[in-house]
This record gives sequence, structure tokens and C-alpha cells, in this order.
Amino acid sequence: MIQLHDLQFVPFIDEDEISIAIDEISDRLNKDFKDKNPLFIGVLNGAFMFVSEVVKRFKYDCEVSFVKLSSYEGIETTHKVNELIGLEKDISGRAVIVLEDIVDTGNTIEVLSNILKDKGCNTFKIATLFFKSEVYTKQNTIDYVGIDIPNKFIVGYGLDYNGLGRNLTDVYQLKSSKMTNLVLFGPPGAGKGTQAEVLKQKYDLVHISTGDVFRYNIKNATELGTLAKSYIDKGQLVPDEVTINMLNAEVDKNTDAKGFIFDGFPRTEAQADSLAKLLESKGSEVSAMVALEVDDEVLVRRLLERGKTSGRPDDADEGVIRNRIKVYYDETAILKNYYQKQNKYFGVDGVGAVQEITERLSAVIDKF
Ligand code: IMP
Ligand code: MG
Repeated sequence: MIQLHDLQFVPFIDEDEISIAIDEISDRLNKDFKDKNPLFIGVLNGAFMFVSEVVKRFKYDCEVSFVKLSSYEGIETTHKVNELIGLEKDISGRAVIVLEDIVDTGNTIEVLSNILKDKGCNTFKIATLFFKSEVYTKQNTIDYVGIDIPNKFIVGYGLDYNGLGRNLTDVYQLKSSKMTNLVLFGPPGAGKGTQAEVLKQKYDLVHISTGDVFRYNIKNATELGTLAKSYIDKGQLVPDEVTINMLNAEVDKNTDAKGFIFDGFPRTEAQADSLAKLLESKGSEVSAMVALEVDDEVLVRRLLERGKTSGRPDDADEGVIRNRIKVYYDETAILKNYYQKQNKYFGVDGVGAVQEITERLSAVIDKF
């Protein structure tokens, strides 16, 4: 992985593959332009490496010139193509081959084509090392394509990100910004709510508590809330699909989130599979299941203590407390196993001061 300015890039196409693509283009150019004394016009800045490689492989008389046109700022095309500079030669009637490093939307190529036609050159061909055919919107034929690539921002082999990366001999693609998605577990009394609140602030995550999501949807009588309520009213379990659709809506509300804390979901393997699919559809995944671990006796003591002031009846009876803890472990065991198989289970000691526990959780989260 490499860092250029504020962004990270990962290897995408190596030099050997690029070299083979240039060999192929050059073979065709040698055939098509033999004895035509073509004029290669390289489009600066990006095309300098490509031009040099093509020209080295061209075996007959030829001339080389460069022009400059630019349409990119940062990683986004600006759709404004600046004027052409650098074409001093008379090109009317000449065999011209435009050499581009990359053709993206095609704005640059279209403008350049029009300028060349204005200058009386109607027979030029276009060769590009990389071509994002998926996003190409223009009519101009791209005659020679080195490598067709998906719509990703790339650097290297002449291509830059705000000036950097042109010297790289391999091509790298922008690393997709990774989300931190946690599935948070903790037995009753472990302080899960408190930690979720702290982590949410610290890592700028969105806390999705399934209970809250249900209550919100039902209270506001959303389509999904009304549907869920129809099952609840009949005393039936809400189908996973309804729940996952609610969570999906929640995730979609926060498209620029750094990640999510899922709380109360998944409860079953099937739900864990659904969550994996949901996140996959957003180009992401569950980073980890993090479970607070607290000894049963400590929990019982804590909850009985809390019961004295909270007035919650389920905190007052030791038998009820022990049963809640048992239910928690029965449910959690399945998911612990599920995420352990993916090396995504992390148990964290949940005994200590709030800050201490946060530090332990952070040690896990900082790995992602
Ligand atoms: P177009 O006008 O949208 O076809 O964009 C063409 C110009 O944008 C190229 O000549 C490059 O200078 C720049 N460009 C397009 N895609 C990329 C990329 O993925 N990385 C770096 N520069 C790019
Ligand atoms: Mg360019």
C-alpha cells in the first residue's frame, strides 16, 4: 500500500502487464503506420511514459510532439477541458496518432479531436494505455486500447493524484475507504450501552440499536414499522427480512458514516448472514464481533445493586437475573462460533472502570 497526500492506494496492474499491453498496441501501430512517417502526439502530463514506450517500439520513421490539456482536479473530472497548447507543427493531411495515458469520460479526447479537425487533420487515430469504457460517453472511436479498466481512480505510470504518483512503474488504485463495523455484545449488566455511547463518539460511528430502530419505525408508522407491528400484534416473530430492511434503511440514512455499531442484531446465524450481505452490498463487511466478558457473579452483584435504585423488576430477583445471563450465553455462543470461524471474534474484559474498558475495546478496534 502507498500513501499519496491524504489517500491510500493499493497495487492494481503491474509493470509486466502494462508492458505486454504496450507491445500489443505497438505491433499494431508498426503494421498500420509503416512508411507513413506518423506524428505521435502525446497528451501531457500523464502520457509521457506511455509515449516513450510506444516510440521506442516503433521501428520506422516517425516524429513526436506533445500537447497539453487538462480536465482533472483531485480525483474527480471537472468536465472543463482547458485549451490546447504546444502544437506548433502543421498537421493538415498528416498521419497523426494521439497518445493518451487514460481516457475516462472522453471530454479531453473530444476537445482534442475537434481542435485537430479544425487544423485540417481528419485522419488521426487515438491510442490510449488505459480506457474506462464503462464511463466513456463520447462518439470518438478509441482505435488502440491498452487495458480496459473499471471506473476506478488510478495512479502510476505517468498518472497522478494531485501531482504525485507519476513516477510509479506499477499502477495503483484508490483504496476504498474502509468502514469499521462492529457487532457489539455484552451480557446484561456488562455496561454495553455505556461503551457503545463512548465508542460512537470516539470513532464517529453510528450506533444502531435494533430495539430503538423497531420502536422508531413502529412509533412513526413507517411502512416497515407497520408491517413489523402486524406480526407483533399477532404474537408472531418479525421475519428477519423485515428487520434487515429496517437496518438497511438505517444504514442508508448514514451514507458517509465511518462505520456502525450493531447492537441487538444479529441473534442467529441466518441473521449474521443477512448482515454480511447487507454490508457487502455497501462494499463493506463486519469488522468484528466484540463481546464484553464479565464474570457471572460480578454481573449478579451489579444488577442487584442497580435494582435497588432503578426500580426495574427484572433487576431485583436473583433467579431472574441468572436466567437472563444464561439466555444471553445461549444466544451468543452461536454467534461467537460464527465470527470465530472468520477470525472476527474478540472478547474484551468488561470488569474495571469505564475508561479502562474503553481502552481495551480501542485496542481491538484500532487494528481495523
Ligand atoms: P476525461 O476527459 O474524462 O476522459 O479524462 C481524461 C484525463 O483525466 C486523463 O488524461 C487524465 O489526465 C485524467 N484522468 C482520468 N482518469 C484518471 C485516473 O484514474 N487517474 C489519474 N488521472 C485520470
Ligand atoms: Mg491526460
